[in-house]
Amino acid sequence: MSSVEELFDLAKAARAQAYAPYSRFPVGAALRAENGAAFFGCNVENAAYPLGLCAEASAIAAMVAAGQLRIAEILVLGPGPGKITPCGACRQRIAEFASERTLIYCADDQGQTDSALLSQLLPRSFGPASLA
Ligand code: THU
Repeated sequence: MSSVEELFDLAKAARAQAYAPYSRFPVGAALRAENGAAFFGCNVENAAYPLGLCAEASAIAAMVAAGQLRIAEILVLGPGPGKITPCGACRQRIAEFASERTLIYCADDQGQTDSALLSQLLPRSFGPASLA
């Protein structure tokens, strides 16, 4: 199984756990940290709508809780059947832990993926280096 296939399976399992009673738009995300470990998350909504958490945010939180701070690749899976790309806020969240090589995969229900570098999804971004 390829690295991306493994991320797809993890994102699909996470999507099945999504708590999205308000949008009915379940999302799963899975990422591989630079040390090779995989982490995953789902969206977690709230009756106070703005408090909802995106799938990418919960996958990143799991990575950070495990002591990893660099994302090698991250895959996002929407409700299907088509692909979704990370929302603007999640592009910024990914940027915090990304390198020039970080790949973002957008998967459809069949596991077909488009890949893009973060710099393509969030050009001229503001990030940690901006504060240096
Ligand atoms: N959502 C994500 O989890 N990730 C994205 O990149 C796009 C949107 C969630 C947020 C909300 O729970 C639902 O999808 C509808 O916007």
